[in-house]
Formats: sequence, structure tokens, C-alpha cells
Amino acid sequence: MSKLPKRYTITAALPYANGPIHIGHLAGVYIPADIYARYLRLKNRDVAFICGSDEHGVAIDIKAKKEGKTPRQIIDHFDKVIRKSFDDFGISFDNFSRTSRKIHHETASEIFTQLHEKSKFSIKETKQLYDTQAKAFLADRFVVGTCPICQNEEAYGDQCESCGSSLNATDLINPKSKLSGSLPKLKKTKHWFLPLNQYEDFIKDWILKKHKKDWKSNVYGQVKSWVDNGLQARAVTRDLDWGIPVPVQGGEGKVLYVWFDAPIGYISSTKEWAKKKNIDWKPYWKSQDTQLVHFIGKDNIVFHCIIFPIILKNAGGYILPENVPANEFLNLEGKKISTSNNWAVWLHEYLEDFADKQDVLRYTLTANAPETKDNDFTWNEFQTRNNSELVAIFGNFINRVMVLTHKYYNGKVPKGGTLNKTDQKVMNSLKTFPEKFEKEIEQFHFRAYSQELMNLARLGNKYLADQEPWKLIKKDPKRVETIINIALQIAAYLTVLSEPLLPFTANKMKSMLNVNMSWDEVATCKNILLMEGKLLKKSELLFARVEDDTIKIQLEKLKINNTLKKDFN
Ligand code: MF3
Ligand code: ZN
Repeated sequence: MSKLPKRYTITAALPYANGPIHIGHLAGVYIPADIYARYLRLKNRDVAFICGSDEHGVAIDIKAKKEGKTPRQIIDHFDKVIRKSFDDFGISFDNFSRTSRKIHHETASEIFTQLHEKSKFSIKETKQLYDTQAKAFLADRFVVGTCPICQNEEAYGDQCESCGSSLNATDLINPKSKLSGSLPKLKKTKHWFLPLNQYEDFIKDWILKKHKKDWKSNVYGQVKSWVDNGLQARAVTRDLDWGIPVPVQGGEGKVLYVWFDAPIGYISSTKEWAKKKNIDWKPYWKSQDTQLVHFIGKDNIVFHCIIFPIILKNAGGYILPENVPANEFLNLEGKKISTSNNWAVWLHEYLEDFADKQDVLRYTLTANAPETKDNDFTWNEFQTRNNSELVAIFGNFINRVMVLTHKYYNGKVPKGGTLNKTDQKVMNSLKTFPEKFEKEIEQFHFRAYSQELMNLARLGNKYLADQEPWKLIKKDPKRVETIINIALQIAAYLTVLSEPLLPFTANKMKSMLNVNMSWDEVATCKNILLMEGKLLKKSELLFARVEDDTIKIQLEKLKINNTLKKDFN
């Protein structure tokens, strides 16, 4: 396999702290990122897996205003909810920070000031939409109107979610203020702009020329279409009172645009982590032998592939992302996941109904991940993946081999005798799996990894079913020793190699099978992993069936939530 560099900075999009986390977030960003980070740690790489809450921006301000709360109350609440969900699902961040923290305000202000002093911004007086009743400038999500491109009447001041175009608030036809509902007027104001148009060649050389082969085609395609349409200057400041104050002269009363500060949150979170560990943060962002990888959803591509890299390039000394494996969207039962319509499976609610079934969701969402196109999550598929794959293949195999070892050998690994042709074939096939997994994970093909993992379980399951040791135990006990020994070796492989995807299950298996090896020890092992005579622990069931009634209840719950549109507070 290709030699991996030793240091990795892996980031996962900072979730907005204005709502809880749902399965779409998990499938698109956090599970893939976690598989990748866990895999690299198992390969003994130096990994910083970084995230945090995104706590500025208009969406949070609007929610606070709507609910008669302060933005601080909103973010404190949801930061807690979000943290707990990630923790519960085993998302193994090395650090999870918050963009409201001092270290982030300082880092973002410093980078803004640096760019300002190097004259990397153009400062322009422009006319912006102003709500005369609410006495506030309107930008981004504070204003809705008709999209000039697709005529969608609900487009936002920064983006049309219907056609995906990025917009300026003044582009909207019939704009309406979200604050008062009134028709906004144009009023003069001054802003700092990042002239993206000056960096077209930079993006072309760096992404369009160099990453045609190794970046996902959905990501590459979006970048190309942005560049082909011509990049435009973007305002990176806002007239708002919630956010990081513009730290230079003339910026009084203004804050940084949330998309200017949020990605810098990856850096401040890394700093915070390094400080706790008493190590230097700089190699993780400034050393050429570090690979920076951003895990995001497709709506974040422009920010991570164009705007943030331009900020980093101008700040100077920073590395650029090696890859940005953005995913498409996950739908739910045929409809777009929506917070406002409460059409979602929320993680904290899932756990109320499926306590200890984190890995089932991790597996289901990965097996059906929206890697190349939008995909659909259905509760029926969830049930099938659980019952026909996790229970009937993976769980069944491990359970059988554990039970038989206890029954025949009091839990001690039996001696592996002479291998017959079938045994040899199985052992040869077994040894091909680690490399297959590595190849898929390193190329961000997590679906394929999950399916190959199930194939490995299938190999074990089929081997036992074909050999039928339970029929031979009287007639040919020596043969049975060999069969169980081989089955146990397969189980040991599964234990170590399933950890990136199924960490909770792998943990149980580790203690049951008494296995403690690194990925590479398994991958390079020429001999057996479980030595003869080793004592196994008590067997536990890994997966349980999900019955039809359970699925019915979930489908009902979706409908009820959807009609109630209950809010999360
Ligand atoms: N909060 C943004 C979203 O949910 C993502 C921010 S990613 C970062 O779409 F780069 F800005 F951190
Ligand atoms: Zn549109």
C-alpha cells in the first residue's frame, strides 16, 4: 500500500449551534471523518481530528430574536446538545471547541488584521438593504426574496437553496426583511471585500490542474463551475451586532462574516488542543509533511475549496488541503431533511429509542452514504441492514465461533492442525482483506469499506456453515480443532479491522476475544493472530433483531413530528 505521511489534520465542518444534529450530518460529514481518523490512528499516524461549534452568523441571531433569547443562550444550549450527540456516537474528535471562545476571537482577528495590513482586502462603500423599522442592515438570511436565476420565491440573501446559486442580498427580486417583514430600502455602508477574482489562476493551478484525478468528481465539478463562471469579490464583514468585531480602524459596529471566521475555527481548535497537550500547533497547519483533509457537505464546497484557501494563502505559511471529500445530501423517506419542517431523525431521539445501537446507525448510514449522489435513508432499509447483515452475518458468525469455543474447549483457542485445500483458500482470502480496506478508506470510499467488511464476516460465516463442525465433533475432533482455530483467526481480523466503522462493537469483541493488536500487526501478520491456548472471555450478543413494530413506530413518529413541527429548546 502507498506510504502514508505521518501527520494528519482532519477537520469536520463546524456545526451551527442553532439546532441538534441529525442523521444527514452524521452520514455526510461526521461518520466518514471519524472512520478516516480512527483508521489513521490505528495505523499509528499522528492525527489531529478537529471540530467545534459554529456560533456566529445570522441564523443564530435570527433564532434568538424569534425566541426572545440572547444568542448566547442559544449557543450555550445547542453546543451542549451537539457535544453530547457526537460523544454518544463515538465521533472521536481530538478537540471540539467553540467559535465564541477567546482563543478563536483572537485567532480570527489576527488573521483578518494580517490580511488588512497586507492590503489584501478592498474596502468599498456599497448600498445594502436596510430595514427601516428594525433599524438594521440586512444580509444573508435576514432577507428572503425571489431568486433571479431560478425564480424560487424563498431564496435567501446569500444563497438560493433551490438552484444552489450563491447570491448577494441585493440580487433578490422583491426582497423582504426577515425581521419586520417590510420592504427594505437601500442604504450606504462600508465593507471589506476579498477579491476572489484575483485568485482564479491560483485555484486553476492548484485544484483544476493538480487534483483532477484524486478529488471527488462532485467537488472538482463544483469548483470548476465556480471558476468557469468567474469569481467575484465577496464581502467578509457584516453590519451586525453578533459576531467577532472587525478588529481594524473604521470597522466599528461591524463584525466578521461568519464564513470568514468559521473555518479559522479549525485553526483555533487545533491551538486549543495543542495547548492542552503541551505541544506545538504549528506543524499541524504549517508543515509540508502534514496532510490537511476537510470533511464537509456539498453546500460547503466553495468555502473550503476557494475562500478559505485564499485566506490561508494570504495569511502566509499555511498548508492547503490535500483533499476535500465532500458528500452529497441524505434524504429521509424520499423527502429532503428539514429542520424547519421537523423532517429528520435527530440523534438524541434515536438514542432514546435505540439505546446502545450506535453502530447500527453508523453501519446503515455508511453502507448507504451519499458519496456520489444524494441518497435516501429509509427505516425499512435500516431494518434490513440490521437484520440481514449485522445480525444474520456479522453477529451470527461471532456468536457461533464464541459459543463453540466455549462449548468444546472451555473457551481456550484450539490448536490449528494441517490445513486442507478449503482452509488454505479461506486463509488466503482472509489475508487479502486488510489491503482492500486500506485502499478503500484512503480513497474515501467508506461505503465500499463497509461492504468489504461485511464480506469478511460472510467469509467466516460461510466457512462455519460449510464445514459444520457441530456434525464432526464426535467423529473427527482433530478436524474440528482446526476449523474453530481458523474461524477464530477470521474473528480476530474482524475485531481489529471493523473498529473505524463499528467502534462500540469492536470494543466488545476485543474483550471477548482477548485481542489487542494494531491494524498493521493484523495487516502484516504472516501467522495466526490468536495463539493456541489463549483464553477467551464470556460471549456477549453483538446485535439484536429490529422487529416490524419498531419500524412502524419510527415511521409514525416522523409523521407526528412533521405535523407538530415542534421546536428544540
Ligand atoms: N456551520 C456550517 C454549516 O453547517 C459549516 C461551517 S464549516 C467551517 O454549514 F469551515 F466554517 F467551519
Ligand atoms: Zn435559485
